[in-house]
Amino acid sequence: METSTHDRGQDGSESVVVSLYYLAQATPKPVNYTYDPPAGVPRNSGKHVEQNVAIHNGRELLNKLSLDTNGFVLTEHETAVSDFYDPEEVKAVYYPEVERLVKRITGAERVLIFDHIVRNPVLAKRGEKGAREPAKVVHNDYTFKSAPRRVRDHLPEEADQLLSNRFAEINVWRAIRGSIESSPLALCDARSLRPDDVVPCDLVYRDRVGETYGFTYNPTHRWYYFPRMERNEAILLKCYDSKDDGRARFTAHTSFEDPSSPPNAAPRESIEVRALVFWAPEPA
Ligand code: OGA
Ligand code: FE
Repeated sequence: METSTHDRGQDGSESVVVSLYYLAQATPKPVNYTYDPPAGVPRNSGKHVEQNVAIHNGRELLNKLSLDTNGFVLTEHETAVSDFYDPEEVKAVYYPEVERLVKRITGAERVLIFDHIVRNPVLAKRGEKGAREPAKVVHNDYTFKSAPRRVRDHLPEEADQLLSNRFAEINVWRAIRGSIESSPLALCDARSLRPDDVVPCDLVYRDRVGETYGFTYNPTHRWYYFPRMERNEAILLKCYDSKDDGRARFTAHTSFEDPSSPPNAAPRESIEVRALVFWAPEPA
């Protein structure tokens, strides 16, 4: 009888087998609304399918991961924030902490944090503290089109100059209370994504239309997670890189139901911040 929720593959790596939600097909272009659309229009038009995948324990290769190879890393990171549900404290205390972290890890010259989301399924259901549910489908937050547009939105005066050098969009994700016991974040190794799997999707806000990537399933996809993330650990995940030289330019991520969660697992409580990352011009 199977008694363990973890498997060991032929390569000896530990993994859990779970189902993830992928897009069933690439066309017509999926449209996702950030608010209730007019009557008769579906909130999410893309059709999703569940696919079983093995999610490997990323802690087994911690020191081998890199943002430019895999598209994500895990790092230790202390924070002085006491209440992540207080947006003012997050902006005043956490944003500068994350700015320094991203500069240190990437060697970038300038980091601008422009957004954050707290996730807690219990508060989200009650509509409290601006909390959202964990994300249920495989996605990447920007596309090759929408990423540069973000720079123009947030730094219109400087955009031409900034876009002439390397820039990236990086999310920093962490547990905000205890350790993560349920609905952890899964990350796909950027090298395992194929161009045909990538599906641009419209993201409709009341005043503009953004664009994200959804993904169709491919057995090449290699998934990781970091079991039981603690409050002093942070994931950096790359959602865009302007540099096109074979490095990871984006990846894919989603939450999932972890079969190794304890029976009375605490609800997921996390924060992610979104950062624009700019490097100094390369010497000629
Ligand atoms: C993100 C994201 C999903 C989640 O950090 O960009 O999509 O469930 N997170 O935390
Ligand atoms: Fe995301």
